[in-house]
Amino acid sequence: MTDAQLAAIAAAVGTPVYVYDAGMIRERFAALTDALSRRLTAHVHYAVKANSNLAVLALMRELGAGADIVSAGELARARAVGFPPNAVVFSGVGKTDSELAEALAAGLRMINLESEGEAERVIALAAQQGVVARVGIRVNPEVTTETHPYTQTGAKGMKFGVPLDRVPDLARRLADDSHTTLVCVGMHIGSQITAGAPYRAGADRLASLVAALRAAGLMTLESVDVGGGLGIAYQEGAAALDPDVFAEAIAPLHDATGLPVLVEPGRYLVGPAGVLLTRVVYRKHTGGREFVIADAGMNDLLRPSLYQAEHPIRVVGAVPGATPEDVDVVGPICETGDFLGLRRRLAGAAPGALLAVEAAGAYGFSMSSQYNSRPRPAEVLVDGDRWGIVRERERVADLIRGETPTPRWVHGEEAA
Ligand code: LLP
Repeated sequence: MTDAQLAAIAAAVGTPVYVYDAGMIRERFAALTDALSRRLTAHVHYAVKANSNLAVLALMRELGAGADIVSAGELARARAVGFPPNAVVFSGVGKTDSELAEALAAGLRMINLESEGEAERVIALAAQQGVVARVGIRVNPEVTTETHPYTQTGAKGMKFGVPLDRVPDLARRLADDSHTTLVCVGMHIGSQITAGAPYRAGADRLASLVAALRAAGLMTLESVDVGGGLGIAYQEGAAALDPDVFAEAIAPLHDATGLPVLVEPGRYLVGPAGVLLTRVVYRKHTGGREFVIADAGMNDLLRPSLYQAEHPIRVVGAVPGATPEDVDVVGPICETGDFLGLRRRLAGAAPGALLAVEAAGAYGFSMSSQYNSRPRPAEVLVDGDRWGIVRERERVADLIRGETPTPRWVHGEEAA
């Protein structure tokens, strides 16, 4: 994406706007699948939550990815772009009866069970529908990762996955019931992981588990799942997970089991391929700090506020003669924690200047909200020298859709 393109998009569509680079998504998908295929048999299931725009999903499907979903809403999105049901895996710690029923009726590749309670619900619902549920068990492999505490998932005592020592009994229960087939065991150990070691540790645990299950006579496994979590470099020179290192770390699982390995990356594929464009509204100097007040805030991009994530920020287009200054780039939201980047060195960030908040393609729009009654931004896809809108900017009418000043009485005198 060139600066001229970004400037043209901001001028035509307004700001804030998310812009995604289709070419870069293709390149990253190829880099990952090439690295994997050099070392093992693997299938990529794109984690829809990272960026669930239909145009991004359509691109993933075209590239040959499957989808990893965590809600009925994501299932609807996957279906809307034509992912075949057998290319969709359903993860998530709190799937409801209606979501499970929908997944069973759709005939997904598998439902990844995260608890014994969920297994019982799936058995009951599959019996009701008269189908055999294809299920996986998401195991908590008790592996710690060096990432933000909010994006760690694979350590002991976290809400995710079935505790390792409970898996054999659960597997037995599933094998004994005629309404389920256990087709996979898997893990997802966290997000923004930049080293191979935790994957290797988790892969070893899964390999031992597969061996134990087989020794107990359980022969229905068709694949193993190592989850997503591949980290990217947010700042120049920062650590990132090299796809070859990742492939090397998980390959022993394939070698040991002979099973294809499912991989569920989100951020790796789309993170670096997106920017959030925002315009400077004001400058303010107060208490020794120099603020750049932008028209995008934590409702548009939550990651800096929630995870202290440091997305690179730059001024789009050169500003001749501008002197670099140390500034805090903040949004318009009524929260002190509303910032896009603190202590940044920018030149030319005057009111009206266009800023690009980079590496915002993953967990940017998908985590956005309407807080402070701000319509969510537009989304644009760039493909070579073409670009087009893939989500219209929300309007004020969208903010109040479904609301009414007087209750539609459901209970009480006026309900009739
Ligand atoms: N598979 C499962 C079961 C997951 O829960 C996730 C992400 C993924 C795959 C994809 O992980 P990825 O490859 O994108 O790291 N909002 C946070 C990240 C939360 C990740 C949640 N689960 C952030 O902005 O950093």
